[in-house]
Amino acid sequence: MKALITYFTMGGRTKKTAEAIASALDNYEVGYYPIELKGKFIEKIKMLDKFENKDFSTIETELNNLDASPYDLIIFGMPTYGNFPPKAFNEILARMRNLGGKKTIVFNTARFTGGKALQYMKEKVEEAGAQVIDQSKFRKLFWIGTKNAIKFGKRINET
Ligand SMILES: Cc1cc2nc3c(=O)[nH]c(=O)nc-3n(C[C@H](O)[C@H](O)[C@H](O)COP(=O)(O)O)c2cc1C
Repeated sequence: MKALITYFTMGGRTKKTAEAIASALDNYEVGYYPIELKGKFIEKIKMLDKFENKDFSTIETELNNLDASPYDLIIFGMPTYGNFPPKAFNEILARMRNLGGKKTIVFNTARFTGGKALQYMKEKVEEAGAQVIDQSKFRKLFWIGTKNAIKFGKRINET
């Protein structure tokens, strides 16, 4: 089976979590669509600001190529910004072709609370016509480990 993991990361925590989940998906061939903010802190903040203002011009080509059809499972992983995922999440959903009817999983990372953002992600994916078969939040104030993510990956793998 094939799985696509699409995630957004500014500080690396969501990427680390996504890769830990993927490491447990023995039954899947895993592909990634990452949106990774890179460079110095100020450059990351500027890019985040652009995205939050719905300017996705720098990743237009990648967004245009988003297609769920080759995959049996799509996993969405996002950080939490003020109780919501970043705007890039909505853009990915809007741009991904053939998402209707697909099995999906949503997860988010947070420092304080990620519950509302995760519920929001689930609702938006369902509005896009896909089925959310599992979800998880990974909340840690400081160091985010991989133990729980691997556990979650094993659960997905056995579903
Ligand atoms: C602008 C901004 C807003 C944030 N808002 C929240 C929040 O509302 N709740 C929360 O628990 N964490 C919040 N955080 C923390 C991030 O969600 C958390 O560190 C996340 O794991 C970052 O993922 P990343 O390292 O993949 O970018 C915020 C971080 C930033 C930079």
